[in-house]
Amino acid sequence: MREVAVAMDVNAQRRQAMVEPRLTLADFIRERCGLTGTHLGCEHGVCGACTVLVDGAAVRSCLMLAVQADGREVTTVEALAGPDGELSVVQQAFRDAHGLQCGFCTPGFVVSLTSYLRDHPHPTDDDLRGALSGNLCRCTGYQGILEAARLAADAGRDL
Ligand code: FES
Ligand code: FES
Repeated sequence: MREVAVAMDVNAQRRQAMVEPRLTLADFIRERCGLTGTHLGCEHGVCGACTVLVDGAAVRSCLMLAVQADGREVTTVEALAGPDGELSVVQQAFRDAHGLQCGFCTPGFVVSLTSYLRDHPHPTDDDLRGALSGNLCRCTGYQGILEAARLAADAGRDL
């Protein structure tokens, strides 16, 4: 298959590559950029494990092609912590509220919630449930995740 050139900023680092047009953004991030914090569960848009930010908006990277991200800014879970590894508000909240068990779903939840809270800084509990309804977790029963979301929303700090 004919390859095409793509160039995008991933976590503020320029990435250029020749890719098959059918390569997903998720595979580009994981295989070409080596950023394996973005997880692949269902690979058809259901579980949310592959969520990343594209120009600041939460996107399921298994449903987006790398060529569609050409010229965009992509942010993955690896870029949410501070430069010294300090956890972001949302990451810290997941830790404090025991919002994870195996952790497979966690990057998707963290990225989705970060995006949501940046746009909706004063959510109700129902808002938070709705915001996270597109992310699936097989382990936690969701209570710890919702507590983490509440903690992060109430933290009142930059996300
Ligand atoms: S892997 Fe993308 S939504 Fe499940
Ligand atoms: S913590 Fe295991 S799938 Fe969510």
